Formats: sequence, C-alpha cells, structure tokens
Amino acid sequence: MNTLEAIKSRRSIRKYRTDAPVPREDIRQMLEAAMMAPSACNTRPWEFVVIESREVKERIMKAMPYTQMLRTAPLAIVVCGRPEVQENICPGFWPQDCGAAVENILLAAKELGYGTCWCGCYPLAHRVEPMQKILDVESVPLAVVAVGRPDEEPAARGYLDESRVKYL
Ligand SMILES: Cc1cc2nc3c(=O)[nH]c(=O)nc-3n(C[C@H](O)[C@H](O)[C@H](O)COP(=O)(O)O)c2cc1C
Repeated sequence: MNTLEAIKSRRSIRKYRTDAPVPREDIRQMLEAAMMAPSACNTRPWEFVVIESREVKERIMKAMPYTQMLRTAPLAIVVCGRPEVQENICPGFWPQDCGAAVENILLAAKELGYGTCWCGCYPLAHRVEPMQKILDVESVPLAVVAVGRPDEEPAARGYLDESRVKYL
C-alpha cells in the first residue's frame, strides 16, 4: 500500500476483532512511525503509553465517554505531550507535533492492516486530569488511539473541496 492509498482509504474504526491481539513487533513499528514525525526544532515533545490491560481500558472508557470502541480494541496507544522540553526553544508547538505523531500511527497501522480511531483528550482539562492519574504520567495526554484488526469496513470517502483552497 502506498502512502496516498493509506491516506485515502483510512477511516475511523469503532468495532474490532477481539480474537486478534497486536504483536509487540507491530506496536514497535507504529511507535517508530510516531517518533519519525516532524516536530518543531526537532524537539520531539512526546511520550507514549501502550495499553493492553483490559482494566486500564475500562478506566479510560469511564474518563473519556467517546472511547467506547476500547471495549473491542485490543490495544490503545496514548500520545502525550511534554511541553517543558521545548519551553526555551520553540514553546507552544507541542500539540501540532503530537498531532503529527498521531497521524503517523494511524497511517502505519493502516499499512500493517490495522484499523484505528483517534480519540481527543487535550485540550479538555476534565479529560486530561483524570487521564494523567489513570496513566500515572505528568505529561499531557493529547489523544488515545484505539488499534486493532477491523470488524467493520466503512467506505472510503473523498473530501477534496476546491472552495476551501486559495491559489496565490
Ligand atoms: C482531534 C480528534 C478527536 C477525535 N475524537 C474522537 C473521539 O473521542 N471518539 C471517536 O469515536 N472519534 C473521534 N475522532 C474521530 C473523528 O470522529 C473522525 O476522524 C471523523 O468523523 C472523520 O471520520 P474518519 O476518520 O472515518 O474519516 C476524533 C478525531 C480527531 C482528529
């Protein structure tokens, strides 16, 4: 699958096969893709929490109501920002950097045959604070990415809209 095919066919998946765990080697490839993302001044202001534990997924579903797909997803990767690492260099870019890392996970997972769903956490303080406690981190949980073999096949969509583009 080339990059454009992955981008154009990716859809959010909210129903996963429960008989297909994600091997550690595939997780490693997704994390590598995440950490290959561009970041402001190459500060790489992120860290990742890999969740396979059913109990932790249950706690996340309670703290973040729109993550109910974790009931079937065998894996969640939480992308967390570390604003302090770029404080004196290029402050404030970390949400963009972490967003690029999230998208790289989505596309690497697609290439490996997995479905994903990006679930937003930051900038909602009432989601960030409980998530920091659940994950036992001081970094800022930006997004929970559900990952697993898809058990649904939403059709690809096309969104090129020339009215949103200005050519100068
Ligand atoms: C920042 C962000 C937050 C999102 N949060 C959630 C979420 O909490 N739960 C969910 O089911 N989907 C979430 N989504 C997925 C969007 O609903 C989805 O990407 C959008 O409807 C487009 O559908 P597609 O991904 O299938 O193309 C989020 C996506 C983004 C980029």
